[in-house]
Amino acid sequence: MYALITGGSKGIGKEMAFILAEKGYNILLVARNEAELLATKEEIKSKFHVNVLFLALDLSLSDSPKQILHWVEKEKISVSILINNAGYGLWGYFDQISYENQQSMMLLNMNALVELTYLFLPSLKTKPQAYILNIASTASYQAVPGLGVYSATKAFVLSFSRALRFELKKTSVSVTCLSPGATTTNFTNRSGMSKSSDLQATADKFSMPADVVAKFGIDAMFAKKNEVVPGFVNIITVWSTYFLPKSMIESIAANLYLKNLK
Ligand SMILES: NC(=O)c1ccc[n+]([C@@H]2O[C@H](COP(=O)([O-])OP(=O)(O)OC[C@H]3O[C@@H](n4cnc5c(N)ncnc54)[C@H](OP(=O)(O)O)[C@@H]3O)[C@@H](O)[C@H]2O)c1
Repeated sequence: MYALITGGSKGIGKEMAFILAEKGYNILLVARNEAELLATKEEIKSKFHVNVLFLALDLSLSDSPKQILHWVEKEKISVSILINNAGYGLWGYFDQISYENQQSMMLLNMNALVELTYLFLPSLKTKPQAYILNIASTASYQAVPGLGVYSATKAFVLSFSRALRFELKKTSVSVTCLSPGATTTNFTNRSGMSKSSDLQATADKFSMPADVVAKFGIDAMFAKKNEVVPGFVNIITVWSTYFLPKSMIESIAANLYLKNLK
């Protein structure tokens, strides 16, 4: 059986690939950077006796999810775990980030995740047990000024995951949504947040290691949990969004993310 992991070449997705390879799953990785995919493949294969395949694709392009399905069908690969992990954020005022960049982020964080789920669901349903793990964020639980479109895409992921889980209750497919908080990966670089020494220092202070977050997510997936948040600080942050006024929560976020914008 294969686990298909989008964004499995680095960060949280790569750590998930290692955990699943250790459990004996064959791995199919999808990301853009072919050299990184190859390096991850070699690293996994040097440690575990599993097959590792990869496809170098940009998932924000409209044809990519279909290309993956066609390739998987052609190669007769049986996927029983789909991990929709590829995603990124963009930090800045909404009208100061190019629309094209924001559109690509929306296409990756939401459209690719939904389309891959749609395309793989028929075959996942034929398996005695199958899993979908979607990666959202603690930003799913509140509006985040300075990361407005990103937080909205992650709210979408959480809402979609919960509804889909309910719809699939009587099937063999379990859906889990993992919402990490700050995690030590390439995320702060890609989002632009690492340009602010204050933000980077805050991230460094509160970030969880990617392998810890990945293990938490994989354990929750196999335990068929619904919605999970790793780490005590992140749980408190998420719980506070239920009890504190939204305007207060947004001001706290703005104080962190907008204060550091030029
Ligand atoms: N790190 C955090 O603080 C944090 C917090 C909350 C949620 N998350 C979520 O966790 C997930 C994993 O992120 P991460 O922190 O591990 O970040 P990361 O280290 O930047 O890894 C992102 C992965 O996604 C791939 N990717 C990015 N754009 C892609 C595209 N257009 N097409 C295909 N693959 C693409 C990357 O490979 P290529 O660049 O080669 O394409 C990489 O494998 C994301 O959904 C992110 O939103 C992260």
